[in-house]
Amino acid sequence: MKNIGVVTSGGDAPGMNAAIRAVVRIAYSKNFQVLGFKRGWEGLITNTFKTLTPRSVGGILQLGGTILYTSRCPRFRKRDGVKKAAETLALNNLDGIIVIGGNGSFKGALELSKETDTLIVGVPATIDNDVFGTDETIGFDTAANTAVTEIDKIRDTAISHERIFIVEVMGRKRGFLALTVGVTVGAEIILVPEVKYTKEKILKTLRENSARGKRSGIIVAAEGIGDTRKLAIDLEEKSGAEVRLSILGYAQRGGNPTTRSRLLANLFADKAVEMLSKEQGNRIVGLQKGRITSIKLEKSCKAEKPLDLDLLKLANILAA
Ligand code: F6P
Repeated sequence: MKNIGVVTSGGDAPGMNAAIRAVVRIAYSKNFQVLGFKRGWEGLITNTFKTLTPRSVGGILQLGGTILYTSRCPRFRKRDGVKKAAETLALNNLDGIIVIGGNGSFKGALELSKETDTLIVGVPATIDNDVFGTDETIGFDTAANTAVTEIDKIRDTAISHERIFIVEVMGRKRGFLALTVGVTVGAEIILVPEVKYTKEKILKTLRENSARGKRSGIIVAAEGIGDTRKLAIDLEEKSGAEVRLSILGYAQRGGNPTTRSRLLANLFADKAVEMLSKEQGNRIVGLQKGRITSIKLEKSCKAEKPLDLDLLKLANILAA
């Protein structure tokens, strides 16, 4: 192993920069050269990169976002885009490439692995925490903390005005962020795409809460549950309470990574470079039961990470 590439792809996540820095410095300690491809798969299609050195990645550990930029790359969904990326890997004599991203990026990586001999290692980084093969992704803890900080403030105004707030957090397809955030802010109701809800059931809970003396409440909803604007209007109409909607939005994707996100970035990068140095590829690294592990890229792409439904039950008990 002499030359490796690194790329950040898909939605950015706090800690991606920490992962880039760690990849570069660990790779250099093993005498590898590192090329950083820009704007996700786009950079591989267009052969746009910069050489990264231990010095050039100085001062980025604590920064959100990604110095390599990122994108969702429609061209990479087509075979000719993937083939072009494979050509770029060959052109630059890359023995390995580390892809820092989420599910969608790993699906792209799987397609790429069919067209190249360059070894690919995935480093899970997404605020959605929805990658099979790791208990936690880089950026998840930071996004959860960002959301919790904001919702604690919303709680203050909810109590003062005796209102119900629906707070929409990110998670287009999965409810990992909503669940963790919901439990840790003491949400009265948590709505996730994995569990069907009905307005009647929400109204029943609100009525019961009101009968128990709760005059305000927080409903944490993942964006993937559907139209939260409409839900807020309907609930206000039918519950008789004042209902407001607060969409936390893209702030959840930015900001300085937490200690936990940084640590995970360093440990994942270490494992990824080590795997490449041992000529192991087409796998993703992960955290499983407190240990840094790896599983096949294909398995991660094909299996669905389960949501902890026991935690959802616990949240309901805690919301008494
Ligand atoms: O990064 C993942 C995610 O935050 C999803 O939860 C969200 O739906 C999506 O990205 C939106 O990102 P974009 O608008 O950049 O496609």
